[in-house]
Amino acid sequence: MYRSHTCGELRESHSNTLVTLTGWVQKTRDKGFVVWVDLRDRYGITQLVFDEERTSKDLLEKARNLGREFVIQAKGTVIERASKNPNLPTGDIEVLVNELIILNTSKTPPFTIENETDGGEDLRMKYRYLDIRRNQVKDNLIFRSKVAIEVRKYLSEEGFIEVETPYLIKSTPEGARDFVVPSRMNEGQFYALPQSPQTFKQLLMVGGMDKYFQIVKCFRDEDLRADRQPEFTQIDCEMAFVEQEDILNTFEGLTRHLLAEINGVEIDAFPRMTFDEAMRRFGNDKPDIRFGMELGELNEVAQHRHFNVFNSAEFVGGIAVPNGAEYTRKEIDKLIDWVKRPQIGAKGMVYVKCNEDGTFKSSVDKFYDQDDLANWAKVVGAKVGDLICILSGRTDETRAQLSALRMEMAERLGLRKSNEFAPLWVTDFPLLELDEETGRYHAMHHPFTSPKPGQLELLETDPGAVKANAYDLVLNGNEIGGGSIRIHDKDVQATMFRHLGFTPEEAHAQFGFLMDAFQYGAPPHGGIAFGLDRLVAILGGQETIRDFIAFPKNNSGRDVMIDAPSPIDQEQLDELGLKLRT
Ligand code: AMO
Repeated sequence: MYRSHTCGELRESHSNTLVTLTGWVQKTRDKGFVVWVDLRDRYGITQLVFDEERTSKDLLEKARNLGREFVIQAKGTVIERASKNPNLPTGDIEVLVNELIILNTSKTPPFTIENETDGGEDLRMKYRYLDIRRNQVKDNLIFRSKVAIEVRKYLSEEGFIEVETPYLIKSTPEGARDFVVPSRMNEGQFYALPQSPQTFKQLLMVGGMDKYFQIVKCFRDEDLRADRQPEFTQIDCEMAFVEQEDILNTFEGLTRHLLAEINGVEIDAFPRMTFDEAMRRFGNDKPDIRFGMELGELNEVAQHRHFNVFNSAEFVGGIAVPNGAEYTRKEIDKLIDWVKRPQIGAKGMVYVKCNEDGTFKSSVDKFYDQDDLANWAKVVGAKVGDLICILSGRTDETRAQLSALRMEMAERLGLRKSNEFAPLWVTDFPLLELDEETGRYHAMHHPFTSPKPGQLELLETDPGAVKANAYDLVLNGNEIGGGSIRIHDKDVQATMFRHLGFTPEEAHAQFGFLMDAFQYGAPPHGGIAFGLDRLVAILGGQETIRDFIAFPKNNSGRDVMIDAPSPIDQEQLDELGLKLRT
């Protein structure tokens, strides 16, 4: 038996018990006549003590020479501490050691394995296995496991069956770029790693599986951000014989279960908002509704004077920043610089201070009088003491800029509280999205999403106006899940492919298997996929998913620990029939 207890377990009630502990040496403190060692494992830290009075000379010497991160086994007696440490669950006791075995030595680690480490991100990623010994990373992984277990528990109880789908599949042109895998046995041909199990889960519905889920890796070769990894995990779900309402209710149930079990938060029915409303009120299809600062459209009350910037704009809109009237000229100038950064892209910003005495002071006083400004304040819901920030330009661009400003101000004002949870369903997404570069429409969600009932004809005349039976689940301003009711009719699917610019031959080559399946009794079906990494991060009060993934990739898509991707040797290339461009 390596250990009788863990390092997080012992309390005063264990006094005088003989115990065996194992773990890593976190720290040694040598006071000459007494040596303390902090022993760490997954469960906590326990203090070991060796002293001149009660410990043999050899043992004391051995303890003194323990290096950081040595793996040891210590046998001894639990005793009450003279000076207790209230910050440690095991702080009332220590273990007086009478036998010490070094199970393994360790090189000095490249950074300290403590909560406040001296290791930068790159170093910690290179030695991720050491980083995982730190509480934050370890706790995040344990947290993730807990969430995944609750998901499985809930869905199993609801009658869902977990089915695995293949990782080596066929490359498709829709969506993000595929990661491809060359086939040795089929020279010159490639598998693709799935961006999601979308078509397979639909085929499972044709197969009669009725309620499917899978916690599954997905792969997308896209640019990375804090909430995106090239390989990430979905809670992928599909149901047959359902309408949108059934899906929303089922997965609202799952989310509510997780919030209650994991965070102890009870939330009533989730609010719902159409895509159009979200764009109008928040300039964003994944609004953070933990706070207000909603967008106000000012066209009507700002385009009647000789201010050409506004008059020539398609859209004039503003937000009211709480207590912003006290900003100095310098602070406002900084804010203007912020909205003009290329990432945001505004050309400038008009502002109005709502003074304590009820008057207004604006950067466009030359053009507008107090009544005008009072009207603006009314539209954006500004109160005395607020600062109204106004941007103008093309509707979609300006809304996006105001949305970015709204999020930034909320962050600065501390309104994005990580222990507050505000879920939201966004529904009625457009079916298609125009790619301005190519002038072609592509599916906003994916090509298997069904249009709203009765809107199929509109595809011919006004494709951009067609709404889809598609929905996203938003939590605290993050898209944590998305799904749709699918097309289950072969002809409708063919029409859809035609509108996406596929010839019948191309559609058959890419998705013939699905169209074929639809000829054999495909039931009405729909589903959703949650981003598990995102969900876990947000439930854990954070937004960077990397911190909740055991071995994540960095921003260039590299695993710096195993040094991947990496070249392969010529022999391997030859075997695969691949030639590198020189
Ligand atoms: P979608 O593409 O919206 O839908 O993906 C579902 C959810 O997966 C998460 N997600 C990501 N998380 C981390 N890194 C990424 N690169 C990444 N990309 C997506 C998001 C997102 O909401 N097959 C459909 C689902 C369906 O229709 O049922 C799909 O994959 O949280």
